[in-house]
Amino acid sequence: MTKDAKAASGEQAAGPRHIAIVMDGNGRWAKKRFLPRFFGHKAGVDSLVKVVQACIDRDVEYLTVFAFSSENWKRPSDEVSGLMGLVLAAVSRYLAKMGRMGVRIRIVGDRDAVSPKLRNAWNEAESATAHNTKLTMSVAFNYGGRWDIVQACKAAINAGVPAAELTEARLSEFMAMSYAPDPDLFIRTGGEVRISNFMLWQVAYTEFVFSDCLWPEFGEKQLDAAIETFRERDRRFGGVKEAPAVAGA
Ligand code: FPP
Repeated sequence: MTKDAKAASGEQAAGPRHIAIVMDGNGRWAKKRFLPRFFGHKAGVDSLVKVVQACIDRDVEYLTVFAFSSENWKRPSDEVSGLMGLVLAAVSRYLAKMGRMGVRIRIVGDRDAVSPKLRNAWNEAESATAHNTKLTMSVAFNYGGRWDIVQACKAAINAGVPAAELTEARLSEFMAMSYAPDPDLFIRTGGEVRISNFMLWQVAYTEFVFSDCLWPEFGEKQLDAAIETFRERDRRFGGVKEAPAVAGA
């Protein structure tokens, strides 16, 4: 069945509404060009800006990108400080453009460990774009899926939710991305086939697409290929495609 026929039959909405991306391969992209890794991350920011526009053009409502994991602190200190500086520069360079594009920016992750300067930049990015409605871009920064589950449990306890009332739906209300539906499509570039502690709670029924393309080379063509693959999948959410025949009916 073609994707349009599928969508028309209601079997699966065209979608995806929410795409989550692990933007991997920046370091290898730079290495291939005999450049320091920093230049790969810099090219990665340009790629991200293009992908944000491509998502808007394709009516994607939510885009979540993994910009810095809880584990990325293990990288050499010059790479960590380079990434922090790059993110600060990207916010000041692209914030107005993102605003014009209709992007609402949200940051997810533990902000306590980042510098006050970066914290302020995140706060400014969020408040300056809070009214935008075209696309919600969540930037996972100092984020880990396990961190998210633990912080949600702590928040639920602090809110006085009794253990007997702690259902999956109730705990979801305390997750860092409670404002967004779960991702429909998860893309990881760079050829690695793993989740790396990204959105563990939210990807229970997400479709995964792994691409060998290095993130700085990822663009509209690769995004369309991933979306096409997504639309060819049959999402059953643990159910079955057709109602089983009832014996004797
Ligand atoms: C993984 O590639 C990439 C990262 C750890 C950083 C990604 C961050 C950006 C693209 C900047 C985002 C900026 C904003 C403002 C949201 P890698 O270094 O692991 O590449 P490798 O696997 O080739 O070494």
